Amino acid sequence: MASIRDMLRAFTLVGALAGLAMAAPGVLAGAGLPTLEKGKGDKCVEDTQYMRRNHMDLLKHHRDKTMHEGIRTTRHSLKGCVECHASPKTGSVAASKDDFCASCHQYAAVHLDCWDCHATKPAKPKAVPAAAAAPAVSPMMTSVQPGGQPQ
Ligand code: HEC
Ligand code: HEC
Ligand code: HEC
Repeated sequence: MASIRDMLRAFTLVGALAGLAMAAPGVLAGAGLPTLEKGKGDKCVEDTQYMRRNHMDLLKHHRDKTMHEGIRTTRHSLKGCVECHASPKTGSVAASKDDFCASCHQYAAVHLDCWDCHATKPAKPKAVPAAAAAPAVSPMMTSVQPGGQPQ
């Protein structure tokens, strides 16, 4: 896994991932690299380069003690990631292989168990049809989501 991370680091260092993703998604797709949709708003919760390399450390609640930089506030909420990074197409960060979190992880061969418990879609102000709701989302998790979204 470390080598994959190093590989990704090398990509991000030359800005290939973001630069090419925006300039020529088709070319990127052809090369087998992930095409990332841009998140909502102007910027991420931390510097983009920092996020590319360290988002896993910010998010892993079972690894709090190994955090070396101590940057951890509510703004690193997983719900926040989903709010901003859900795809306009699927409404999710990991429903399709092209969705934000899934695309990169598929490319890097990373498997997350987070979505067993956490919703991959932002909270909806109105009820979602049972068939459309992800079965893996526990009531516990949805009950703590804020009621109304501005959009
Ligand atoms: C077995 C169920 C389960 C799994 C799997 C799980 N979590 Fe959680 N997580 C919880 C519960 C329960 C809470 C506390 C409820 C809350 O704060 O919404 C929580 C809270 C969090 C929070 C703080 C609250 C928030 O919304 O940000 C983060 C961050 C988080 N989890 C990240 C992750 C990540 C990343 C993974 C995958 C590596 C993961 N979790 C896997 C159950 C789980
Ligand atoms: C307020 C909206 C917002 C929130 C919340 C947010 N992001 Fe972002 N994120 C963005 C935007 C916008 C960008 C693109 C920034 C840029 O182009 O420099 C981005 C970029 C990224 C990137 C780099 C993508 C690339 O092009 O390589 C990663 C990784 C990322 N976010 C992960 C996360 C994670 C994980 C969380 C939750 C801890 C999160 N984001 C929360 C808006 C958000
Ligand atoms: C720019 C590519 C990229 C994007 C976008 C991305 N990730 Fe990752 N993520 C990775 C890579 C690469 C790893 C593996 C790093 C390693 O093994 O050291 C990883 C690992 C993780 C891990 C740790 C997995 C584990 O158990 O080791 C979590 C949690 C995670 N990502 C959450 C997210 C979430 C949530 C999103 C969407 C908001 C997201 N990532 C978007 C590249 C990305």
